[in-house]
Amino acid sequence: MRKQVKQNVSWVGYLDWELDRFHGDDYSIHNGSSQNAYLIEEEKTVLIDTVWTPHRFDFVENLKQEIDLQQIDYIIANHGECDHSGSLTALMAEIPDTPIYCTANAVKSIEGQYGHQGWNFKVVKTGDSLDIGHGKQLIFVEMKMLHWPDSMATFLTGDNILFSNDAFGQHFAVGELFNDQADQCLLNKEAMKYFANILNPFALFVSKKLTEIQGFNLTIDMIAPSHGAIWRQDPLQIVNKYALWANAYQEDQVTIVYDTMWEGTAAIAHQLAAELAVQSPETVVKVFSIAKTDKNEIMTEVFKSKAIAVGSPTVGNSILSSVAGWLEFLQQLKFKQKKAAAFGCYGWSGESVHLLQQKLTEAGFTVIEDSVRAAWRPAAADLASLPQMAAHLLA
Ligand code: FEO
Repeated sequence: MRKQVKQNVSWVGYLDWELDRFHGDDYSIHNGSSQNAYLIEEEKTVLIDTVWTPHRFDFVENLKQEIDLQQIDYIIANHGECDHSGSLTALMAEIPDTPIYCTANAVKSIEGQYGHQGWNFKVVKTGDSLDIGHGKQLIFVEMKMLHWPDSMATFLTGDNILFSNDAFGQHFAVGELFNDQADQCLLNKEAMKYFANILNPFALFVSKKLTEIQGFNLTIDMIAPSHGAIWRQDPLQIVNKYALWANAYQEDQVTIVYDTMWEGTAAIAHQLAAELAVQSPETVVKVFSIAKTDKNEIMTEVFKSKAIAVGSPTVGNSILSSVAGWLEFLQQLKFKQKKAAAFGCYGWSGESVHLLQQKLTEAGFTVIEDSVRAAWRPAAADLASLPQMAAHLLA
């Protein structure tokens, strides 16, 4: 069922309440999500994006309830990833000659996934436009690496809606559609989680693209992303947040993450948290067991932090596999200007702390020299360095 966005613009996407994982199992979803597709009905009828492959037949059937598919003049494919292009096969089976406007990289992506179907692609680049009648135009803006090479945004003049695709989105099901009707706490949390876990590696591109878009001097009344709420009330609030988040964002927070075998490394984690709280009561200090906590939620906390401390006992001359996997993800996210420290217990060989320091350095963190490396259970002498370690993390 369509939902009206503005005048002749409707939402025709899929509200995915049951979705709990995304990008395979790499991104957790706790509050549902949506794949947003939009229908514009001016003199020309335009479909912007589709929905994920498993919902393709429902999508086409629902669209048929709203319009005669033959009336669709143009399809805009802002992005080739299958959560937005996944219904094209079912749709194009019905209207095979309808032109699909997208970037050159999107043609590669779509044909790479669905084969060479002979679809009528119209390649566009930044500044190209498409007249849709009633004095309105669609203007295309390439969003390369936000977050794929093919990503694109489309601006609708007259209504001043920026269809931004993944940028400014959230994995968050908002049945009411608009940001002013959504739970504000969850909306902000999910928008930040999305940025921290998906867009942060491309933060430099975000900054450049925001500057470029501002240079167009567009009046933006709405930002309609491809996931989650449409930014209707104060739509530039999310643009301003992206400008902050893309610039080595941090709050007054220190996050401690660890895994443990026989609770020695866990004890160090909690002693460090207590020391940080004593030295700086106003600083937010959070402690997470890597093995027991959703990794995407931890990464959002790391994103907010000015410093982190990571702990693992030594096992097999190395670190626990849970911590190793987490550090691989940490490195991918390319956080900037954050400090880090390492700690861990051992029985005999004791390599973990050095390895953690090495991996944190490789992940782009400024690793402080202070560490806690405790043989067997941590004793008072092992913890003597905690005050200095805490002071350096807080500085
Ligand atoms: Fe929502 Fe990059 O796909």
